[in-house]
Order: sequence, then C-alpha cells, then structure tokens
Amino acid sequence: MTLKVGMIGAGAIADDHCNAINRYDGAAVAAVAEINPQRRDALQKKHSIPKAFEQWRNLLADQDLDAVAIALPNALHAPVSLAAIRAGKHVLLDKPFALNYAQARRVADAAKHGKKVLMIGMNQRYRPDAQALKAIIDRGELGEIYHAQAYWCRRAGSPKFGTWFVNRKLSGGGCLLDIGVHYLDLALHLMDNWQPVSVSGQVYGKFGHRGIGEGKWGKSDRDAGLKFNVEDFATALIKFRNHATLELRVSWVLHQEEANRNDVELHGTAAGASLAPLKLFRPAQRAGEYEVALPQDVKLPHRYENRQANWLDAILGKDKPLCTVEQSLTVQRLIDAIYASSARGREVRFR
Ligand SMILES: NC(=O)c1ccc[n+]([C@@H]2O[C@H](COP(=O)([O-])OP(=O)(O)OC[C@H]3O[C@@H](n4cnc5c(N)ncnc54)[C@H](O)[C@@H]3O)[C@@H](O)[C@H]2O)c1
Repeated sequence: MTLKVGMIGAGAIADDHCNAINRYDGAAVAAVAEINPQRRDALQKKHSIPKAFEQWRNLLADQDLDAVAIALPNALHAPVSLAAIRAGKHVLLDKPFALNYAQARRVADAAKHGKKVLMIGMNQRYRPDAQALKAIIDRGELGEIYHAQAYWCRRAGSPKFGTWFVNRKLSGGGCLLDIGVHYLDLALHLMDNWQPVSVSGQVYGKFGHRGIGEGKWGKSDRDAGLKFNVEDFATALIKFRNHATLELRVSWVLHQEEANRNDVELHGTAAGASLAPLKLFRPAQRAGEYEVALPQDVKLPHRYENRQANWLDAILGKDKPLCTVEQSLTVQRLIDAIYASSARGREVRFR
C-alpha cells in the first residue's frame, strides 16, 4: 500500500518535505495546494506530483489522499490542520504548532477525538548528533541534568523583509517562534523535562524595523503593507518542578562574532555535554583530570531523513511519533509565557 500525501504550501521548505516523503518506501506526494501558480507548477514538476490545487480546501476534499504535510505561513497552521483533521487526514504540521497555545489546544483536542496521527515537524530532534546524545542521556551517563543552555543566534538572518515571517498578525512572533521553537523543543527533549513551573523572559525588536539584518529565507512574495513588527532577539529563564533550569537565547540579528551560533549545553551530576559539536565532559579516571569524549558508534533510533519517516511509520503503526502532541503543547505554552513575561515585566508561573 502506498500512502498518498498532499503537500499544502509550495514555499521554501516544501521541497524538503516532498523529497523526504517520496524517499520513503510506501508513500508518495500525490497532490499539492498552493495559491502562487509559479511555485505550485515548479513543485509539481520537480516532484512529478499528479494533482495540483489552488485552494487547500479542495485538496482536503480529495478522498484519495490519506495524509497532508502542511508548510504554510504560521497564521494558517491552526485553521488548516483543524480542517485536515476534520477531513480525516493524518497531519504533519511544520513548526510552530500555532500562533498561540489556545489555537494549538483546539487542534490537539480535535486530533484526540479522531484516530489520525498529528505530529509537529520538529526536525532538529532527528539530527544524528541529537539522537546520539539522547541515547547517551537515556543510558544515564549525564546523571541528573540540572541546568541547560540552548541558543540559536544568527548575526544577520531575518527571513525576507516584507513577507509574512516578519509581521505579527501572520507569524505570531519573530525569532522566538521561528527558530527559538527548535532549540527550546530540542533542549526539553534532551533534558526529558516537560514540567515547567515558571518563565521569565524578555524579547527585543532592535534591528528589523530599521531595515537591518535581512537574510535570504522564504519564497513568499513581498508585500509593502507587511511591516516588520516582531522581535529579533529573545532570552528566557525557565524553571522546572525538579528545580532544573534552562536558559534560552535566540536571535535573527545580533552583534556577535559568528554568523550563526547554536548549541544545547547540558550540565548533569555525572557529566556535561554539548551538541554542536557532540562532546561529553566528565572527570577522568585519574584524580584531578578531566576527559572530553567524542562519542562514537551510537546506534541511531531513527533514520536521518526524518520526521517525515517517523510520521509515516506512525501512520502505518510501525513506530510512535518521537514528538508527541502533548510535548508540542508544552513548547507552545512556554513560548506564550515568554512573550507574556516580557509584556508584563514579570515572571509567569504555571499551576
Ligand atoms: N522545520 C523547519 O526547519 C522549517 C524551516 C523553514 C520553515 N518552516 C516552517 O514551514 C512553514 C512554511 O515556511 P516556508 O519557509 O516554506 O515559507 P514560504 O513563505 O517560503 O512559503 C509559504 C508558502 O505558502 C503559500 N501560501 C500562503 N497562503 C496559502 C494558502 N492559503 N493556500 C496555499 N498556499 C498558501 C505561499 O504562497 C508560499 O509559497 C512555516 O510555518 C515555517 O515556520 C519550518
């Protein structure tokens, strides 16, 4: 049996989705929906997609399709995934879950009532180094992880100005929701800690509104009416029920030496670790010495493609989603809390 997948959105990231789905033995991209005719035609041709629609509602009405991958501007994530779930499709929704927690909750509730697989596409978890580190952590080699730092800071890497990415109404937020979501999710996954109790955060918009820091990402057309009104830097301290803490730092634009810095650094009672590059830091056998180890030969639980393969395996009952809906709700709730803490000028506590 071949699972037939509809691709909704034919922008910058849709190509990756189509490649991964078509590489999977037992699935194929069978339709695309995209409002822009050039991008729709180009994706259809490149991946030999049999059907093409202008409107996503018409794609969802196609009874031949089992599942959809959604890569649309953030404001469409919740409405389109809700409609897809109601149309009886399995859903792979690219990050972020939604504009806010309330929207994400509605999608999650709808998915709970159906029997279809909903997964948010957190591809960073599938990186070979992240999988290797997770396997080491799961073996207990770090001991109790009581502190972590997660950061993804670009020096001049805003998505294209004048597109939906930089306008709050369509994006829901700037660097925090766009790339912060990846490293927040990755850190929580590695810490395996999903019980935050409080958040203190601050977001800053220092460059984009002055026309500074544009990068190249995004295929959507520019629209002069879409003003840059989101943050280009964010920082937060998250505290957990077991007293562990996580510091998060994210930028699209920042005066710093490197063009791009990202890592998750973990500190445990038995050892420390970093992800980029993957290293373990632990006391050596000889007293007073310290060892830096480069782990090798760790068996990876998932093929690298591969949120798409994990999602398709889950649809076929061969695996469970690595990234659960409950975890993605927690990530969205934390992002909401960082924005709320920044706006109110105080810590946000969870009950
Ligand atoms: N997981 C990742 O690493 C990753 C990377 C990049 C983007 N993303 C996410 O994927 C989503 C898409 O990002 P992108 O970079 O491809 O953006 P993009 O702007 O390049 O593409 C968005 C596409 O959606 C189309 N579109 C807009 N409204 C539509 C509608 N009503 N019906 C059909 N098509 C419509 C646009 O015409 C455009 O082609 C975003 O939510 C983004 O956050 C994830």
